[in-house]
Amino acid sequence: MPHNILMPRIMEVGGGALDRLPGVLAALGVQRPLIVTDRMMMELGYVDRAQGLLRDVGMVSDVFADTVPEPTERSITAGVEKMRQGLANGQGFDSVVAIGGGSPIDSAKAIGVLAHFGGEIRDYKFPHQADQSGLPLIAIPTTAGTGSECTRFTIITDDTVDEKMLCVGVGFMPTAAIVDYELSLSVPARVTADTGIDALTHAIEAYVSRKANGFSDQQALAAMRLIGPNLRIVYHEPDNRAAREAMMLGASLAGLAFSSASVALVHGMSRPIGAFFHVPHGLSNAMLLPAVTRYSIEAAQQRYATCARAIGAANAANSDAAAVRLLVRELLALNTELEVPGPAAYGISRDKWQAALDTMAEQALASGSPGNNPRVPDAGQIVALYETVWHQRM
Ligand SMILES: [Fe+2]
Repeated sequence: MPHNILMPRIMEVGGGALDRLPGVLAALGVQRPLIVTDRMMMELGYVDRAQGLLRDVGMVSDVFADTVPEPTERSITAGVEKMRQGLANGQGFDSVVAIGGGSPIDSAKAIGVLAHFGGEIRDYKFPHQADQSGLPLIAIPTTAGTGSECTRFTIITDDTVDEKMLCVGVGFMPTAAIVDYELSLSVPARVTADTGIDALTHAIEAYVSRKANGFSDQQALAAMRLIGPNLRIVYHEPDNRAAREAMMLGASLAGLAFSSASVALVHGMSRPIGAFFHVPHGLSNAMLLPAVTRYSIEAAQQRYATCARAIGAANAANSDAAAVRLLVRELLALNTELEVPGPAAYGISRDKWQAALDTMAEQALASGSPGNNPRVPDAGQIVALYETVWHQRM
């Protein structure tokens, strides 16, 4: 069976790649971008630097810096409006440059598509497919995490019903990605851990997904080999450039992998935790990853054993049965070392958790992601897994 593979048309990868921004825009035939970002990126000076680079070659840009973590429908409306208004000189924007973690990039994807094609973001919710490209989007990630610079997805929360909407299609695949690990050197430890576990989850889920294919397998394995040995290092040694570079590359490769193979049950169950309890995306993945892996192993032991060896939790001498046990042990140990709290330690009340279980299970199933899992659960099994995660000691 043939597989549909989408990738950015241009990727600039490596330390200092940000300097290539003007050349990337020129190669795409555009010169008037709206930069979509957040306040932190302004404070860090990344936006000034990008605008300076553009000014040096006579390109005009403007900035929308009001994106929020875990973006909502409401939070992107002002960005769509700004996009439609155009530049102060009366010219329209011809492209979007996203600078930041997953949230600014996901926001920029939604803003670009809505400004170009119209409608509301809920019109684009899965299973709808955004099958046309809009304006060129250049994604510049500053965390080694979501891989959004290399995926055909965006996630926007419908704040009227607390649901994270998965939106899919070629319209959400960036035209270009500038993957410069130097931008990740300033990321604080907590965010480094959460986004790093998100990237690891992408690679594992892409590899065990029912939609895995020969192309995605290679990206996923390469990502695991880069992330496995480096995740603890970047958490403890934020200035370790070699580890930061490996993590950044690993996150982008994991993005390519799950963009064609999809994610699975961890992500399906993670989004409702984010929507209901405002837990950062990578952190809710981390809470779920050991328990969901243990649950899923029986349906894909060989695949999980290969994951264990790729991340360095097992070696070639271990049998598959031993390797998968070592994988679960490693995922738990990783959560302990990276200080991942359980839901209770995060501050979620027991009553609210229990009250939300049925709706969370419903939303998880509706997202389609659990259907990609090697072992496909029903609503009751998802509720039981949420309960396991509540009681699990991290
Ligand atoms: Fe993710």
